[in-house]
Amino acid sequence: MRATRAMVIVLSLALIPSACGAPPGVGNSAVAGALDQQARSIGMLAIGANGAVASVDGFATAVGLEVLMDGGNAIDAAIAVGFALAVTHPAAGNIGGGGFMTIYLAEEDRYTTLDFRERAPLGATADMYLGEDGRPVRGLNYRGWLAPGVPGTVAGFELAHQTYGHLPWERLVEPAVRLADEGILLTPYLAGSLASVAESFEPFPASKKAFLKSDGTPHASGDLLRQPDLAWSLRQIMREGAAAFYTGAVAERLAAAMSENGGLITMEDLAAYEAKERDPVRGTYRGYEIISMPPPSSGGTILVEMLNILETFDMSQYEASDPAAIHLLIEAMRQGYLDRATYLGDADFVDVPIDRLTSKEYAHQVAAGIEPTRARRSAALGAEILEAPESTETTHYSVVDVWGNVVSTTYTIESGFGSRAMAAGTGFLLNNEMSDFNAWPGVTDERGYIGTKPNLIAPGKRMLSSMTPTIVAKDGKPVLVVGSPGGKTIINTVLRVIVNVVDFGLPLPDAVREPRVHHQWMPDSVRLEATSAADTIAALRGLGHDASGRGLQGDAHCIFIYPDGARLAVADPRRSGAAGAY
Ligand code: DON
Repeated sequence: MRATRAMVIVLSLALIPSACGAPPGVGNSAVAGALDQQARSIGMLAIGANGAVASVDGFATAVGLEVLMDGGNAIDAAIAVGFALAVTHPAAGNIGGGGFMTIYLAEEDRYTTLDFRERAPLGATADMYLGEDGRPVRGLNYRGWLAPGVPGTVAGFELAHQTYGHLPWERLVEPAVRLADEGILLTPYLAGSLASVAESFEPFPASKKAFLKSDGTPHASGDLLRQPDLAWSLRQIMREGAAAFYTGAVAERLAAAMSENGGLITMEDLAAYEAKERDPVRGTYRGYEIISMPPPSSGGTILVEMLNILETFDMSQYEASDPAAIHLLIEAMRQGYLDRATYLGDADFVDVPIDRLTSKEYAHQVAAGIEPTRARRSAALGAEILEAPESTETTHYSVVDVWGNVVSTTYTIESGFGSRAMAAGTGFLLNNEMSDFNAWPGVTDERGYIGTKPNLIAPGKRMLSSMTPTIVAKDGKPVLVVGSPGGKTIINTVLRVIVNVVDFGLPLPDAVREPRVHHQWMPDSVRLEATSAADTIAALRGLGHDASGRGLQGDAHCIFIYPDGARLAVADPRRSGAAGAY
């Protein structure tokens, strides 16, 4: 990592006025107080000596920063940001979904992770989405009342708070209650995203009521969006903790709506949900330590595997956009995603060979088969599991506090706005995470269907995730906090940011901006971001890759910690974003 070059660029960016201005859309009493304070900046980049937050949304970043400035630790701030995003970023922020936190505890010099992934309801079966013809019924695992897994977010935040939090629970939920009650002024981003899905709310009256005007049309940018039902749910949670959600008044409304609409989640399912603390997956990359999420996410395991493969090549001889470097990234991805499809699932239900997949020996074996100037074919690699696309919402945020504690959180309701289903009177969308299970047992094909055993549905099992909340450390101290949304692309986005920083010496803002690349074994094609150079795409085609450029990949809100302790928060400009520091 070329720290000197990075530092100069960072400091000059911090002096750009727009990088230090007020967050977009602020003007709400829930956050206005903190804006009066000195020595605090929120923008697309922010640098501070004490604490930092980077998230998709200005309200949520401001809430997190306020918690830090009030004496909260990074865990407190991460909880408050998570609840705030449930109000201000309903496409992915949630209390009706699930996710993961990777945590560094400075005082104990210890890393841990929290798993609050959704679980299959107890009435779920491996073939529940198949029709009479033995094929998946289109959309059944995706929209409506059969799509949700049992939500984990509220249990996860409570576990985080009880185990590692500092400020009172009410202090962390209250800003979200206020944002929901008093309302937020819709940013162009949020108004646009709600308008783009407005029609899909039609079969779900509670969702229509929550997000559309009373005549059923979408709100405009600048309108005030109040969410009184969500405020009710959050207030129950503020007063009674997770019990309100899993056994109390919120649970009753949720279970009643499920039973009325043919869903599977019952009071028993909710009462049985447990968030879990797990040991992280760990690896090393050229002297850096990688700490990330174990199963039921595939993220940490496959990230470490791909980094180990890349470590066998001299990547630093290339520029970040060099087709030769991107070729090696693609070949590492091809193997990583084949192994993901073959082995990964909920390790409480199936054996996952994490040690082997993350070992340097295995990486050397794989690397020996990679040719520097020719694409391999995925079908030739994974023939034994072959028998016969994904959404783009989820959200990642990063927090560092004054003591050096770090939290990397990715959570989701799967698709943007999840299943669209909402129980009357609760105000929160339910996830469609059941679509992350392999819905068609036995069918793995070149279109990208995966039907392998480890990730088949079973009652109480957690569906496989790609979410990769990660901390990178050097000399025993965290230096980079990174993660992203983007479904299966997530692991590759995190890989790209790490390689950009470690191998190509890019300062974090450039590492985040650099065009991304995705290959997932099957389909055997490479997707580069639309911002990639035409020459790069042509050169990859020349190496035999089915490469094309379109769209954007991920949304990585990251923090870099310099040796002198300065914290640089970087918001990814791809969607919306707000970095804050003090
Ligand atoms: O857990 C997972 O891997 C997915 N449910 C995440 C979904 C996602 O990232 C969608 N988009 N950004």
